[in-house]
Amino acid sequence: MTGAEGKGGIPGLAGRVAIVTGAGGGIGGAVAARLVAAGAAVVAVDRDGARLPPTSAALVSLMADVATVAGCAAAVDLALGRLGGLHVLVNAAGGSGRRSGDGPVHACTDEGWDTVLDGNLRAVFRMCRAALPAMVRAGGGAIVNVASVLGLVGGGELFATHAYAASKAGVVGLSRAMATYYAPAGVRVNVLCPGLTDTPVAARALADPPTAAHVARMQPLLGGPASPDQVAAAAEFLASDRASAITGAVLPVDGGWTAQ
Ligand SMILES: NC(=O)c1ccc[n+]([C@@H]2O[C@H](COP(=O)([O-])OP(=O)(O)OC[C@H]3O[C@@H](n4cnc5c(N)ncnc54)[C@H](O)[C@@H]3O)[C@@H](O)[C@H]2O)c1
Repeated sequence: MTGAEGKGGIPGLAGRVAIVTGAGGGIGGAVAARLVAAGAAVVAVDRDGARLPPTSAALVSLMADVATVAGCAAAVDLALGRLGGLHVLVNAAGGSGRRSGDGPVHACTDEGWDTVLDGNLRAVFRMCRAALPAMVRAGGGAIVNVASVLGLVGGGELFATHAYAASKAGVVGLSRAMATYYAPAGVRVNVLCPGLTDTPVAARALADPPTAAHVARMQPLLGGPASPDQVAAAAEFLASDRASAITGAVLPVDGGWTAQ
């Protein structure tokens, strides 16, 4: 048993350096907290500086937009320059584009499509592109990309944001392609597909009684939303050495949504 495991931690994270994007948000924040508790040093990235956790001994906060090349480079530079390496990347930044014009295809605007694909898919591509050379040089690493159940199955009328669905399905495809290509270099790439999770981005859905009732039906194990920590626990597992033989996996954390 390693020291980290003895303290209730998980092997293979103590002493590792991780970048967590969207770390000011519900899921990214919970992931960053779990990785710090497991003994990792974390670069916590969010474009909304006010939501970021404060810098501490084990966590460096960085206000940056990971949809940009410069934002991704700044995160990697901080990991390598200040924390001395890069072993884990969790891409949790992302969000809904409803306000920018996402919707069902016939009503989705070009702006909505571009905004969502940029923020949810291009950002993951750019962050992985920035991080991979250091992981390959180091002989391996673990990437966990946060997609969604809506990247796996249709959302019907209540979750009719089709650019969002396409962006998350794109994350799944990109991750599987990277998993096979970078496996010989020791880099694992896995995907989490959360169902509805109790974070600010889900507030609109949960405040609408018919949608909340639908979520309770779709997630029968939970009878409602997942907690951010339930998603973070799965991210921690996939980032750790406990998942050392796992790559290209697409893991729903959805209380049974996609089993129906
Ligand atoms: N909450 C849910 O029900 C749910 C379900 C499935 C998938 N997801 C996915 O989980 C991920 C995390 O979402 P959440 O629920 O924690 O939402 P959240 O709004 O609490 O957190 C998202 C965070 O990402 C940040 N962010 C967004 N774009 C960014 C960018 N380009 N650069 C830097 N930071 C950026 C936001 O500022 C925010 O703090 C997202 O990718 C989301 O699509 C969420």
